[in-house]
Amino acid sequence: MIQKFTRGNDEEYNQNYFMGNMDTGWVFNTQLLDFMGYDFNTRDIMNILVTGCLGFIGSATVKRLIADGHGVMGIDKNTTTGMNGFRVENEFGEIPNYCLWNLDITDSNDLMDLEDSCQDWDFDAVIHLAAIPGVRDSISDPVKYYQNNLMGTLNILELMRKFGIPKLVFASTSSVYDWQNAPYKPMSERTGYVKPGHPYAGSKLACENLCRIYHELHSLDVSVLRYFTVYGPAGRPDMFPLRVVKWIDGQNSIHLNGDGSQERDFTFIEDVVDANIKALKPIGFEVFNIGSGNPHPLLDFVDYAQETINPDDFPTYNLHPPNNLDAPFTWADNSKARDILGWKPETTLQAGIDKMVAWYQENRKALKDIKF
Ligand SMILES: NC(=O)c1ccc[n+]([C@@H]2O[C@H](COP(=O)([O-])OP(=O)(O)OC[C@H]3O[C@@H](n4cnc5c(N)ncnc54)[C@H](O)[C@@H]3O)[C@@H](O)[C@H]2O)c1
Repeated sequence: MIQKFTRGNDEEYNQNYFMGNMDTGWVFNTQLLDFMGYDFNTRDIMNILVTGCLGFIGSATVKRLIADGHGVMGIDKNTTTGMNGFRVENEFGEIPNYCLWNLDITDSNDLMDLEDSCQDWDFDAVIHLAAIPGVRDSISDPVKYYQNNLMGTLNILELMRKFGIPKLVFASTSSVYDWQNAPYKPMSERTGYVKPGHPYAGSKLACENLCRIYHELHSLDVSVLRYFTVYGPAGRPDMFPLRVVKWIDGQNSIHLNGDGSQERDFTFIEDVVDANIKALKPIGFEVFNIGSGNPHPLLDFVDYAQETINPDDFPTYNLHPPNNLDAPFTWADNSKARDILGWKPETTLQAGIDKMVAWYQENRKALKDIKF
């Protein structure tokens, strides 16, 4: 059961025990938890390990878990550069009850450190988001994708087996469906149909299989979540949504492959965070689509963003030939997540874009050195 965790003196804790330097490894240790009145023997809160905690989805998830009162330890191999560095500086602030480790889940020395902390934390669950995402690069460097995503996942599964951590939420992707000719519209996990078309998706499907094997061999409880095009504040600068906002805000033209009619099931970050948390409940082994269920052409996204940023102007386009890696559509049948997890997307595309634009405009200056 998930319950609130009440701490002693937040102010005193904040002043004395949150150490801002996230590069150094531990920012938090068990003595400090003792000081705060945390009792490792009672299960009145959840202790959750979040991998990829400084990424787009990881950072938003951590923030929500902390706000809900859970004990959170986050790990990420990149705590300084790009959007991860930006998030450390600008998105977290001095939040209590959070421990960040700078470590790589494919590095054996780092894994030994992680094992030490498993002794102390007695984790209830892992939300495993750490991966190298992205379709195009995976074709030029498939080895990197499989080494990182598959070995990283195997190491996390082994850690869970060794320390008896009972619950895993695993981040998978809509890309496991046929990227060109998905025969089911909307895409449904209930059909069992999958046909990844590139190494990134292949690495994720292999991870899904590993998770199932650990469920069957070691009774690990697993929720596999297949996310569909996640967008929102503090998003990924390599993805279409944030790039469009930046381009329009800066009065630049929109780089578009093809005619923009490709449809994406854009899913707002806070809805994805909700899904991550709802998926913590015990369910055996299940796969869930996490998508809004309401796809839009890329051009709709551009129009909404233009309307929000500057309704008196029109977007201009920098057109490129269609890219054969672009799926013509993604569209989630999300009925299984609704039925079993009690999850439903709450944010319309227009409302999500409004929030994203507001965030971008507030942070425009701080984002100036980020590579898009
Ligand atoms: N954003 C989306 O639309 C989307 C869609 C489908 C699936 N996903 C999946 O969701 C997860 C999170 O995606 P995101 O958009 O937040 O990506 P992201 O790149 O922002 O976050 C991933 C994080 O994992 C970290 N990481 C990667 N390899 C690591 C390793 N070996 N050890 C420790 N940390 C490591 C990275 O440094 C990064 O901070 C990924 O697994 C991704 O494949 C995302």
